[in-house]
Amino acid sequence: MDYQSSSSLAHGQMGEWCKACPVCNGRACGAHIPGPGAKGQGTVAVRNYDAWQNMRLVMDTIHDEFAASCETTVLGRSLALPVMIGPVGDVNRHYGDKYNTVTYNGAILRAASSAGSLAWTGDGLDGTIMTKALTLMDELGGQGIPTIKPWSMDVISEKLEDALAIRPVAVAMDIDAAGLPFLRGQQPPAGAKSVRQLRQIAKRCHDAGTPFILKGIMSARGAHKAVDAGVDAIVVSNHGGRVLDGVPATAEVLPQIASEVGSDLQIFVDGGIRCGADVFRALALGASAVLICRPFVVATFGGGEEGIAGYLEQLARELMDCMEMCGAPTVADIDRDMLM
Ligand SMILES: Cc1cc2nc3c(=O)[nH]c(=O)nc-3n(C[C@H](O)[C@H](O)[C@H](O)COP(=O)(O)O)c2cc1C
Repeated sequence: MDYQSSSSLAHGQMGEWCKACPVCNGRACGAHIPGPGAKGQGTVAVRNYDAWQNMRLVMDTIHDEFAASCETTVLGRSLALPVMIGPVGDVNRHYGDKYNTVTYNGAILRAASSAGSLAWTGDGLDGTIMTKALTLMDELGGQGIPTIKPWSMDVISEKLEDALAIRPVAVAMDIDAAGLPFLRGQQPPAGAKSVRQLRQIAKRCHDAGTPFILKGIMSARGAHKAVDAGVDAIVVSNHGGRVLDGVPATAEVLPQIASEVGSDLQIFVDGGIRCGADVFRALALGASAVLICRPFVVATFGGGEEGIAGYLEQLARELMDCMEMCGAPTVADIDRDMLM
């Protein structure tokens, strides 16, 4: 089932604010939070999407014939394609009741694992969101990445203990989450973390043999701090525009971050990536893999696990087409000269 089919099946089933648009570009959901929109005037999700569209692929079909392979390695694990399913916390609060966070996480974790991809799970004020996600991941032998919010160090410590016990592929923290409007003034509080605190968290993960990822880096300065803290990977992300209005698109900051810290850690990126050509653009700018979030919610609400698998297959096909047309037999061959 391709994305167009699952998004048309999802129409009218996605709560008040998501319109299951054929292309998820941030325009219809605007600034609706709760809902899948962006903060403030709601401009950043649109900016993320538009930034990829403004980059052109450079064709080169004068080379030996090859069948492109989009297999890759992320944090030492092989993936069938450089695409992971991004985390969504509190699914029914933002998208209505067809799925809740547990049923949604179950669908993305299972479908991603069978397709050779990886799903990330979210966190929220309701502590059971995380524990239930961990139970599902445990059933799949740890195939997934739990994302912990930057709560107080005591709360993080408890959540880390639970997360590390199931030996997930990695543990992530959305370090930008303090900006979420619905977390302000709530219990437990979420806030900024210092390099020293992040170093403690990274060490705890490493002692358990688990990589630690920071999600929500938007500057070379932030990326250097992540390197200092000893993290294994970062996600260049502005949380889909949900944590601060007026920030750049992720595609605008990725090249400088990749050039400054690309040899120190793995770099992933998200925000408005919707098709194989966008994945190609992100890899050409220096990412090793991407996360896609909102469209997988639509694919799930419309087509269940079949919708998720179909969208992943579509992304792989589109990416391979770009690779063959631009002269890149493997994802490692995709480079900056293939974009203008
Ligand atoms: C409704 C909703 C809930 C989200 N919940 C989380 C979360 O719990 N943890 C997290 O790290 N990111 C969360 N995100 C951010 C996404 O993982 C992702 O960074 C962002 O949506 C950009 O990707 P996209 O443009 O492909 O949607 C959420 C996004 C949405 C729309």
